[in-house]
Amino acid sequence: MGFIVGIDGTAGSGKGTVTKNIANKLKLVNIDTGSTYRCVALAALRANAINNGIIDEQKVIDLLDKILIEIENTPNGDKVFLNGEDVTRRIREKDVTQVVSPVSSIKEVRYKMVEFQRKMAEGKDVIMEGRDICTYVFPNADVKIYLDATEEERARRRLLEMQEKGMQITYEEVLDNIRKRDYNDKIKEIGALKLAPDSIVIDTTNLTIEQVEEKIVKIINEKRK
Ligand code: DC
Repeated sequence: MGFIVGIDGTAGSGKGTVTKNIANKLKLVNIDTGSTYRCVALAALRANAINNGIIDEQKVIDLLDKILIEIENTPNGDKVFLNGEDVTRRIREKDVTQVVSPVSSIKEVRYKMVEFQRKMAEGKDVIMEGRDICTYVFPNADVKIYLDATEEERARRRLLEMQEKGMQITYEEVLDNIRKRDYNDKIKEIGALKLAPDSIVIDTTNLTIEQVEEKIVKIINEKRK
């Protein structure tokens, strides 16, 4: 097995940006596990397996064998493909974000995605971000980090990110989504967001991206020596 860095944390804690930058800097393969669940959520929406927020679980499970997800690392971030279509931007939109957490709670979805995530990491030096990387996907990861920040700060960051992409959304909507996802992500039966006893916690509320990166790079370099 290669060298594995697991980065878990809440939505908007800075995981995505920090992971992408560190992957570039240290030449690690970047695996954003959230995007795999987002692909399933998009496929479920398109197959009408979700109506008015109600999920037809069996329909989602039946879809799993028909979904091909590919992630391509580029210096400008990942490109995500669902059955050959570039959905990198589409999977970040509001409708997907609203349903992804409950979709990711379906047991069969988790088994399939975790299998896929482990396969992607096989034999490589990776930095993998998600919710259950250090507790479930790779409980023996070489470096384990847990990022968090206040919900207000996380909502502020996500709002900026979405506005930069031209998405129409208010601060209240983003905050509400973050609260619901935090709750749902933490109470999941399998793969819930929880702190591994040996993870290093970094509160990013009052830190810049560069400061968070610096801390993590130092931890990785010490471990790699
Ligand atoms: O990191 P993100 O916001 O793109 O993740 C989207 C959702 O996917 C998140 O609400 C919970 C779920 N997820 C998960 O259950 N386990 C992971 N390892 C990563 C994401």
